[in-house]
Amino acid sequence: MSALLSQTRFPRAWLLAQKLIGGTPDKKRLALRHYTGQKHILEIGCSVGNIADAFVDEAISTYTGIDIDEAALGIARSRFVDDDRFSFRSDPLEDLVASEQRWDFVLIAGVLHHVDDGTALDMIRCCAALTAEDGLLVVSEPVPLRTGDGVAFRIIHGVEQGQFLRETDELVSLLESSGLTVREREEPLIGPGISPRPKMMRFALITAIPERKNNYPGRTAAR
Ligand SMILES: C[S@@+](CC[C@H](N)C(=O)[O-])C[C@H]1O[C@@H](n2cnc3c(N)ncnc32)[C@H](O)[C@@H]1O
Repeated sequence: MSALLSQTRFPRAWLLAQKLIGGTPDKKRLALRHYTGQKHILEIGCSVGNIADAFVDEAISTYTGIDIDEAALGIARSRFVDDDRFSFRSDPLEDLVASEQRWDFVLIAGVLHHVDDGTALDMIRCCAALTAEDGLLVVSEPVPLRTGDGVAFRIIHGVEQGQFLRETDELVSLLESSGLTVREREEPLIGPGISPRPKMMRFALITAIPERKNNYPGRTAAR
């Protein structure tokens, strides 16, 4: 089952599965819930561009999607080839930080539950550094099952491939220890896609702003 859901081996099948049963419509709504017209969007872990879709009808100037999976990026590029606001790159996050380019809306969605605490912390520090001083970071991640969660929740958690699901409090701690000030946090429920119900997953949706300048160890005083 998990092989069939492999984004790297079958990126188009993965995209379809995300639309039908992976909650993409609700995930796109979460990506936009705190969007207030920022012009330059950065998404870390953009995959095939399934969340990028959310910004097509917004008055953005640029959307930059970053991922380490070239197969997924290939699909993303082909889907947005006619819209020159959208670009998809595989740059390491540290290189982006060093480039000094900053974004006013940074999104990391459905990525951190695939990586251990050390990697998550490194990624969040990069997100913090890449968020412009007056910008907003949005983190959207599934959280662990709760006692009393129904059958739909249990089925989805059975196929969920992320091994590092974290409670909202844990995510907030990671953000705060990365020099970010958490603004809002909530735990919306999401449905499969082909229908908005039954709800099948609980997400942590957190917004944060950079606490201070130069909060990334790799940044020099001159920046
Ligand atoms: C489960 S997908 C999430 C896709 C999409 N954001 C969503 O919410 O549906 C996680 C993505 O994070 C990417 N990823 C993992 N580590 C990364 C890193 N260090 N830099 C960029 N992308 C990374 C993976 O390749 C994968 O495409």
